Amino acid sequence: MQMNVNERKRIAHFTGPLLGAMVLGLSLPSAWAGTGPLQAAVQQGSHIFAADTFKGRGRTCQSCHLAGGKTQGEAPNGAKIPSLTNAAAIFPRFNPQRKRVVTLEDQIEACIAGGIGGRPLKYGGRKMAALVSYLTSLSHGQPIDMGGKPK
Ligand code: HEC
Repeated sequence: MQMNVNERKRIAHFTGPLLGAMVLGLSLPSAWAGTGPLQAAVQQGSHIFAADTFKGRGRTCQSCHLAGGKTQGEAPNGAKIPSLTNAAAIFPRFNPQRKRVVTLEDQIEACIAGGIGGRPLKYGGRKMAALVSYLTSLSHGQPIDMGGKPK
């Protein structure tokens, strides 16, 4: 197909910003905004995160992981607590203390057993699925970085 100069300019004028927007869209992680049963699980997970004490000593996830896990926090003993904004993207990873590879579910159980002193969740149960859904929604749009560093 032959194009004259004006036609080429018009196409360049149109595709330049379009390409720019596509590159930007790919590089910026976006908040997950789905609907339906998955959205319901994310909301349930967010509620559990903020309110459930797992019949422990009264702490919730949010007692340590502030702002729904979106910012860094500090444990009662002064230990740094990572933000959970990339947590779902960096598991599984090797945990040197436990000398094994741990999954996101294992980490959630570790926080319930340790920080919260609560009753373990059932693997494969609805509450675990809800918490995993919520945490994964926080990492939506980020590349998987298996074994990566917490933020
Ligand atoms: C007493 C404070 C405390 C509470 C309560 C707590 N956590 Fe944690 N959490 C930590 C600390 C400290 C770390 C980092 C050290 C570690 O890996 O254990 C952490 C790490 C994590 C990580 C891994 C983050 C990463 O990027 O490596 C996840 C996921 C997590 N917590 C989820 C939860 C969930 C879900 C709950 C509620 C069921 C919860 N935590 C309750 C203190 C807490």
